[in-house]
Amino acid sequence: MSEFQIPQSVRDFNPEIGLVLGSGLGSFADRIMPIETIPYSEIAGLPVSKVPGHEGKFIFGELNGKRLVIAQGRVHLYEGWTVKEISTGIRVMHEMGIRQLILTNAAGIVNENFSPGQWMQITDHLNFTGQSPLFGGANFIDQTEVYSKSMRKQFREKAAELEIDLATGVYAWMPGPQYETPAEIRMVRTLGADAVGMSTVPEAIQARALDIEVAGFSCLTNYGAGMTDDLLDHSEVIEMGATAAGQLVDLLTATLGSGT
Ligand code: HPA
Repeated sequence: MSEFQIPQSVRDFNPEIGLVLGSGLGSFADRIMPIETIPYSEIAGLPVSKVPGHEGKFIFGELNGKRLVIAQGRVHLYEGWTVKEISTGIRVMHEMGIRQLILTNAAGIVNENFSPGQWMQITDHLNFTGQSPLFGGANFIDQTEVYSKSMRKQFREKAAELEIDLATGVYAWMPGPQYETPAEIRMVRTLGADAVGMSTVPEAIQARALDIEVAGFSCLTNYGAGMTDDLLDHSEVIEMGATAAGQLVDLLTATLGSGT
């Protein structure tokens, strides 16, 4: 039995790849010719952000022959949703038929070798929230390779071809909404993180539980707290996301269209 009512037109389109766009990365949607757009509010059971302008929608389209569903707008734990609620979009896209998922986010730098504006391919994650979308059952899924090695290889090869300076590293999921303290940044660095943010991990866990192959990318928008004399400012995070978006758009366009 289906958990969600997916419109027949979407079932017929049968998207193969899902893409979740993080803060400031909306411009990717302009690269595809949208075939159909469905607001989240039209799918019963899907949480809709109460922040005006962040209501969110699914955009369906093709990119070099690949059938895509783009989730534009996500909900976060810090808005007060439960971890089950914030991962609902992944279960919906699974029912639409996706087999691969690309997650994007804006993140703070933890690794001192990285620079703002750079993209980091996520190789693994740390979960500092104590939360899991799989709560409620004995869901002992393996997490040895949450972020697909073969997708990582494809994207890395394309990045090299396009001369995109793609960092790789571990993403730490923090609950937010406040940014970290300098001591927290030092803590996550000591524990193995390269970047820090407030999303993506619950979606990746949920997707792996549904046997969807996952890739993740962080737009490194700012140095973590205490790494410079600057204070963190949300508008600068959004601005940097928008500036760096073009590079990831190019990378995804080239990789998804490469027939792999
Ligand atoms: N910390 C947490 N989340 C973020 C940051 C940060 O510094 N920058 C963008 N998202």
